[in-house]
Amino acid sequence: MYKMKKILSLSLFAICVLFLYACSHKTTPTKTTVETKAPTTDNNYTVTLNSNYGKEIYESKCGSCHSLNKPGDYTYNQWYPIMDRMAKKADLDYMQKQNVLGYLKDNAKAVK
Ligand code: HEC
Repeated sequence: MYKMKKILSLSLFAICVLFLYACSHKTTPTKTTVETKAPTTDNNYTVTLNSNYGKEIYESKCGSCHSLNKPGDYTYNQWYPIMDRMAKKADLDYMQKQNVLGYLKDNAKAVK
């Protein structure tokens, strides 16, 4: 009888250990996907990037605080971080920014 009790408590102990082990190893996702809010059904936007629309926005919104830069003043890699800052200043929404980026990409200084 004594032996039975010991075996029982040992196996209970083992179950507890296994249980704790299983619980502490819950996999937590390391990457959270960031959803960008891009309006896809709004009639005001063309979903495909439109270089002409980008040009329009660029010329109407980007020359109010300083003189309008030429797209060819910078390479696209230089434009990208500048646009992060300036899109906020010019109050561009997501699609406007994308379209301006499209326009700049088409007309940026070539990378040597
Ligand atoms: C509300 C005013 C304002 C608007 C609108 C604005 N800018 Fe600017 N921009 C600034 C100021 C101020 C600076 C200089 C200080 C700085 O770099 O933040 C600047 C600097 C720049 C520069 C110089 C590069 C650099 O690294 O500093 C570029 C290029 C530029 N802007 C492009 C744009 C474009 C493209 C837009 C349209 C999306 C735009 N700006 C709209 C205020 C504005």
